[in-house]
Amino acid sequence: MTKFADIKGFVFDLDGVITDTSILHGTAWHQLADSLGVAWSDELANGLKGISRMDSLEMILKAGGKENDYTQAEKEQLATQKNTNYVAEVDKMTPANILPGMKAFLDDLRAKGYQLSLASASKNAPRVLGKLQLADYFPKIVDPASLTHGKPDPEIYTKGAELLNLPANQCIGVEDAAAGVAAINAAGEVSLGIGDATELGAADMVFADTAEVTLDNIAKKLG
Ligand code: BG6
Ligand code: MG
Repeated sequence: MTKFADIKGFVFDLDGVITDTSILHGTAWHQLADSLGVAWSDELANGLKGISRMDSLEMILKAGGKENDYTQAEKEQLATQKNTNYVAEVDKMTPANILPGMKAFLDDLRAKGYQLSLASASKNAPRVLGKLQLADYFPKIVDPASLTHGKPDPEIYTKGAELLNLPANQCIGVEDAAAGVAAINAAGEVSLGIGDATELGAADMVFADTAEVTLDNIAKKLG
């Protein structure tokens, strides 16, 4: 098992980790599901966390037994509709939307020389970082358009460590989604989950809240 002293880099998810966009994604998908007559549930909402735009749409259609009801072109139109609603909400964001403790954590990581990269499935990640005024912290972003497979496949986290020129076991991956934790584990990185300990039970360490994510607390858990 990796020791805290071995850690040199952090590979971050964005939505639900640095900012609360997971709620905005959920609301925009919920709206679309309602318009399609697909019943919404917390389980469906949680299962969509970390999942790419088109895969999320497929999951929603499947939940409603409608996976064969639309052509590819119609599906793309539905995804665009969701994205338009989502982006309108993103454009209202400010640095006040950074989750508690995350700015201080990023500042501490930077001050102590840890390397940072972003492993978000979102094609809107640069826009979100811009709104939060955090773009400077993440010059290294995995391009989700370059991926063959989405989370829980390890590809995005493997690429996140490669951008830092670090071996996987010297990186901590930070996630709020079960699919993301699975991706980090499969990439051979140390997984830090933020959220419900049962949902994120596969993570090497879980914090209930972003405010608890500090280097001291990580060191205590990792040893
Ligand atoms: C992930 C979110 O970060 O990005 C998902 O957790 C979202 O909910 C995915 O579907 C893709 O985002 P976007 O902005 O490219 O539609
Ligand atoms: Mg997330």
